[in-house]
Amino acid sequence: MIGRLNHIAIVVPDLVAAANTYRDSLGANVSIIYELPDHGVRLVFVELPNSKVELLHPLNESSPIFSFLERNPTGGMHHICYEVQNIYTAVDSLRRTGAKILGDGEPKIGAHGKPVIFLSPKDFLGTLIELEQV
Ligand code: CO
Repeated sequence: MIGRLNHIAIVVPDLVAAANTYRDSLGANVSIIYELPDHGVRLVFVELPNSKVELLHPLNESSPIFSFLERNPTGGMHHICYEVQNIYTAVDSLRRTGAKILGDGEPKIGAHGKPVIFLSPKDFLGTLIELEQV
């Protein structure tokens, strides 16, 4: 069911410092800072030859990643995003296995303008998984 690794998301305490670290220490191509108010985040894309890393910082206290940063003040890996061909087929298949889809269980439009779901870390080895329809 899952295809390419679309991105890995890392929550960081300082977006400019994080972008500088990826650019200067790791020699990566980093984007400008984008603000996504609908998702409660500011982010920088790190472009890799085969995938992306997203450096995320909460926009405000109601951001879904605000409490994550409180629990992990130096930052940390937040989720892994895999691509799927059809998000509704993926949802049906996951429900049959008993996996929990977070939120109301319905796909939402994600940060890239495409339908996404999030799966509970309890069902997937302690890792928050995002599935994105491509
Ligand atoms: Co994501």
